[in-house]
Amino acid sequence: MSTVFESLVKTDVDLTPYNTLNISAKARYFASVESESQLKQILQHPKSEGLQILVLGGGSNVLFVNDFDGLVLHIGIKGREVIKETDEDIWLKIGAGENWHQIVRYCVNNGWGGIENLSLIPGTVGAAPIQNIGAYGVELEEVFEWLEAVDIEGRETRRYEKQHCEFGYRDSIFKGELKGVVIVTSVVLKLSKQPELNTSYGAIQSELDKRNIKQPTIRDISDIVIDIRNSKLPNPDSLGNAGSFFKNPIVKEEVYERIIEKYPEAPGYDMGNQKTKVPAGWLIEEAGWKGKVVGNTGTYKQQALVIVNHGDATGREIMDLADRIKTTVKEQFGIDLVPEVNIVSSDGLV
Ligand code: EPU
Repeated sequence: MSTVFESLVKTDVDLTPYNTLNISAKARYFASVESESQLKQILQHPKSEGLQILVLGGGSNVLFVNDFDGLVLHIGIKGREVIKETDEDIWLKIGAGENWHQIVRYCVNNGWGGIENLSLIPGTVGAAPIQNIGAYGVELEEVFEWLEAVDIEGRETRRYEKQHCEFGYRDSIFKGELKGVVIVTSVVLKLSKQPELNTSYGAIQSELDKRNIKQPTIRDISDIVIDIRNSKLPNPDSLGNAGSFFKNPIVKEEVYERIIEKYPEAPGYDMGNQKTKVPAGWLIEEAGWKGKVVGNTGTYKQQALVIVNHGDATGREIMDLADRIKTTVKEQFGIDLVPEVNIVSSDGLV
């Protein structure tokens, strides 16, 4: 009888269908797992020992620069379970392999509020806490309670409460100290049965006014966010991309003041502590890159922060364009852009 390892792990697998930038790269070993038990059995097999491991969810935030010389684990663990309920709230435990947007709509359909502003974000539930996904005034950490993850070395299940996750802007402990140490298997969110809506993001409020919606529901917010995203961001099914390629830089106030002396219309959001968040999309557009086509790559015409694959771009071509953008933004504004996308080379995350 073959072991789980032998029946699930394939060799030399093309990763094109597993990354939304549609980059062709090969994984030396690849397995799709549907349960925590399969995951543990693969990890404890002697052949996994010493292999570099890369976890893939929806592949919507990853750039393969070349082939990956290790084991890719595609997490397909499903499941939705209400584990606790009060008159006000429900606690929903979700398998890491569930599609994030389907979970958002499931919650909206049930009248559970909290993640409607995060509609249409590509990727899986397990990936959501890693980079603390955020959009339209809401970040995952606001509804996050705890997650369960399998420790790669010891193969036991561990629980991480919110206070241990070190959430920040597009950041968590799973991108730092615990990178490559654990694999998320489920996430618990606390959602509200009497939701308070977040309409702080200008574009949401103006859509509500335009549609003459006076008392919006979570479904209205979700529908509006879907429309805004569709109008600004390319659908990876028709144009390869990984959403925002860079993070929005947070700079010292004096750096921002220097920018507005020259560009009085420069957008910036006060972050407190004499820091300002400057939209990377604006910097990239000002540097002349918006909608530019460079070989098989380019930036999206409606949103310069999104790098796209117009055809058969290689990971290296995308990386070269990103480096050129980074250099011109540095020259023009003195600001270092940091990728938001995970860059994977042959031996792991860069
Ligand atoms: N802008 C430009 N030119 C551009 C793009 C943007 O001038 O080409 C300006 C806009 O005019 C606006 C500002 O930049 O003043 C902000 O733009 P936008 O509202 O499109 O949001 P963003 O800061 O570019 C962030 C997230 C998105 C998220 C949106 C909405 C990051 C790195 N990106 O983008 O997240 O959907 O806010 O909340 O924080 C992602 O992470 O993949 C992603 C798409």
